[in-house]
Amino acid sequence: MSKILITSALPYINGIKHLGNLAGSQLPADVYARFQRARGNEVLAICATDEHGTPAELAAQAAGQDVRTYCDEQHRLQAEVGARFGLSWDWFGRSSSHQNAALTQHFSDVLEDQGFIEERVDRQLYSLADKRFLPDRYVEGICPVCGYPKARGDQCDNCGSLLDPLDLKEPYSVISGSRDLEVRDTRHLYLLQTKLAERIRAWVNTRQHWPTLARSIALKHLDEGLIDRGITRDLSWGVPVTRGGQPRTGMEGKVFYVWFDAPIEYIAATQEWADATGGDWRAWWRTDAGADQVRYVEFMGKDNVAFHSVSFPATILGSGEPWKTVDTLKAFNWLNWYGGKFSTSQGRGIFMDSALEILPADCWRWYLTSNSPEHSDSTFTFEQLVAAVNRDLADVLGNFVNRILKFCEGRFEGVVPAGGEPGPLEAKLCADVAGALADLTAQFEAIEVRKSAQALRALWVLGNEYLQEAAPWSAIKTDQVRAGVIVRTAVNLVGLYGRVSAPIIPFAAEAMRRAVGESSDMWPGVDISAELSRIPEGRALTTPPILFSKIEDTQVAAWSARFGAA
Ligand code: MF3
Ligand code: ZN
Repeated sequence: MSKILITSALPYINGIKHLGNLAGSQLPADVYARFQRARGNEVLAICATDEHGTPAELAAQAAGQDVRTYCDEQHRLQAEVGARFGLSWDWFGRSSSHQNAALTQHFSDVLEDQGFIEERVDRQLYSLADKRFLPDRYVEGICPVCGYPKARGDQCDNCGSLLDPLDLKEPYSVISGSRDLEVRDTRHLYLLQTKLAERIRAWVNTRQHWPTLARSIALKHLDEGLIDRGITRDLSWGVPVTRGGQPRTGMEGKVFYVWFDAPIEYIAATQEWADATGGDWRAWWRTDAGADQVRYVEFMGKDNVAFHSVSFPATILGSGEPWKTVDTLKAFNWLNWYGGKFSTSQGRGIFMDSALEILPADCWRWYLTSNSPEHSDSTFTFEQLVAAVNRDLADVLGNFVNRILKFCEGRFEGVVPAGGEPGPLEAKLCADVAGALADLTAQFEAIEVRKSAQALRALWVLGNEYLQEAAPWSAIKTDQVRAGVIVRTAVNLVGLYGRVSAPIIPFAAEAMRRAVGESSDMWPGVDISAELSRIPEGRALTTPPILFSKIEDTQVAAWSARFGAA
């Protein structure tokens, strides 16, 4: 049994996330966590809301709420909708926790002690109308790279360039719209990443097994050269800047930059979990307390890779303390929306709450896994969604399960038939299932998301092929015992599907297990004939409701109109 720590990039607090966010971090992290739990490993799956910085302040302002109230409410909404999607976090924390404040301040202190933090005077935009500095997203203007007129101070949404507010042409305040801005001096802490660059590169080089996307982004950033990074901001909402537990002289009222405290929340959320449950957070994070035995896997979209492969490691390595660092960094490309991007700020695409109004969670989980934006960007289309649900879930899996359970109900009074011995078709089935299961296990283990879904589907197909060949509906006319063997075998296959499908479609998987009285949700072993003899002769079954309903054309038309898909 191994210990596996799993984290997903922390979703910003600024509203329920869209399906692109879900597909590229929280969902694959959950699939992996469920798989590893079923394998009998000790898993700790951690997520949290990312509650600081300008995204939080601006969203609260737009909602007309004070930022604390806004965050309380949005955290609850994200936790709820995540649970309805079957996201099985061991802890879903908050970066605004007191644990995170203390740990962030601790890291700042030790980094300074090690000579990796210094104070610098920085030039920033100041709004005379608003009487405040305008960091990051508080200022918008024309992108100096592509000319997009609504580029944000930290990044251009149109061309993706990372920006500094001073780069923007014709800047204006997002708070008041005022263009009455001037450049003023302000004091900030800088993390001296230039001093840490070689240490970080050496560390990345020890991480040979990172998937290609993450590795190439990390190396690209290192090759371009690291710059020293301002890690504080002139904002009031966030972790206060301190030195030795006291407000820092000359920087009163300032807070740490959101990207400094957010990754630290992975650790702090584990402390939140420990404080709430009595767990031992050190065993997961401190290599002097056993965490060197932990395998740590992170999930995130590609825009987050630099922060996780360079900035956060700079914090952790620079501290000189024995912290656990990530072993496998799994990154995802974008899920696009009809030629454009999903966008939270512009409300474009489908969001997690409205998704569940139109289809059950498993349909989305299956679609987003089998069409994962894993090795390249992918585009959401209703056509692909319909194909995934109607062909894979309804025609292949649902049809097999419902057909066999109905047949057992109609011809055997819903009781697993007794007697008879497995024959050559059953032997062939066992061999095929063994092969497909080995493939599925390997794909899940390798975190190959799309290939895992393909391998699972291949396993489902075997059930239909078996029924087609064995044809219990013909056998029953001449040989009741033979028909019984087929039904018993197929019912056992339903139980097996109920175990191996659970990482991706946990709700349907549970319904399958319940229908045949399979109590184990653990991963099957390699002795397939034993695994297909678990549901005993004489057990009474219950017919589940139709596992998956097909999507109708009229529904697609209504949804396309509702979500503006064109
Ligand atoms: N909130 C960020 C985003 O959505 C991700 C933060 S990940 C963490 O892009 F490392 F900061 F935690
Ligand atoms: Zn641009």
